[in-house]
Amino acid sequence: MIAGTRPINYLRISVTDRCNFRCRYCVPCKPFEELDHNQIARYEEILRITRIACELGITKVRITGGEPFARKGILNFLENLTVIDGLKDISVTTNGSLLTREKIDTLVTLGIKRLNFSLDTLDPVKFKTITGKDKFQTVWDMILLAHQKGIQPIKINAVVLNGLNDDEIVPLARLTRRYPFHIRFIEYMPIGETDIKEKQILSHEIKDRIENHLGPLQPVERTQNDGPAKKYRLEEAPGIIGLITPVSSHFCSDCNRLRLTSRGTLRPCLLNNYEKDILGPLRNNADDDQLKEIIRTALNKKPAAHNLSERCVGDIPISHMTSIGG
Ligand code: 5AD
Ligand code: SF4
Repeated sequence: MIAGTRPINYLRISVTDRCNFRCRYCVPCKPFEELDHNQIARYEEILRITRIACELGITKVRITGGEPFARKGILNFLENLTVIDGLKDISVTTNGSLLTREKIDTLVTLGIKRLNFSLDTLDPVKFKTITGKDKFQTVWDMILLAHQKGIQPIKINAVVLNGLNDDEIVPLARLTRRYPFHIRFIEYMPIGETDIKEKQILSHEIKDRIENHLGPLQPVERTQNDGPAKKYRLEEAPGIIGLITPVSSHFCSDCNRLRLTSRGTLRPCLLNNYEKDILGPLRNNADDDQLKEIIRTALNKKPAAHNLSERCVGDIPISHMTSIGG
């Protein structure tokens, strides 16, 4: 593990800032510039950075976007990731809409067993209002197919906003009685200029609503590699309910992750705008030792806490979530 104030073994890699969805809580309301092709780290460059990070103790990576399956050649890239020494665990976060039966088969063959889907509602009409795309059925079919093919765990992320999809909390939570999914409710983070005017709902209220309708939630013990979700289970349910609380309670001191953005910068914290360029030096012929030093420097900047609840997220405003990869 990488030396420092805490063990960092998890790298989140955003392979693209593009997404075929326009989720209202994620994408800015004003026009924004997408990165040029040559500003985006090429797959070989990401693979080199990952290999070096694994030499420093990274053992898990999660691929995110934008939408990772919107980038050409993603399956081939994932295949190349699987042969990196020391990398034990590869997972992908997706909106699911660009998956197919064949792609899921390939993921299974590659040993990529864990998938996170973004799904905020089970209602096709609301789905379109939130994401801008009429794709509920495709996404739901892909989730079920991934489940049938043995992808486990399947995690479903839902951002909940009052008046937009708060009436979906109970139907989504109820899924855990039928499927071994992890349904994770994420507090909306006011990042960038979105057109969200709906009020965010904090986790304790989400928990109350679930308990009022579906019965008591029993806490599930944390394991060593757990992410930031507080986990619960409905009585006898195969699935898990997770509450992710970036706003109502800080989890920075437990955070074991580093981010690599699609622009090739290392970002120690989602909610703090410090970033360290690694792609520039790599393109200027830095050797492995120099790149290792850059990774170490970025890690030493991991903050003790963020201050999102005060709506202050660092020195530079984050433009939008798609550019960081969530
Ligand atoms: N607040 C909280 N979560 C967000 N996501 C995207 N934008 C926001 C936001 N403003 C989540 C999506 C996706 C994950 C990568 O990030 O639910 O699943
Ligand atoms: Fe795309 Fe995910 Fe952002 Fe929605 S939340 S616009 S699916 S990156």
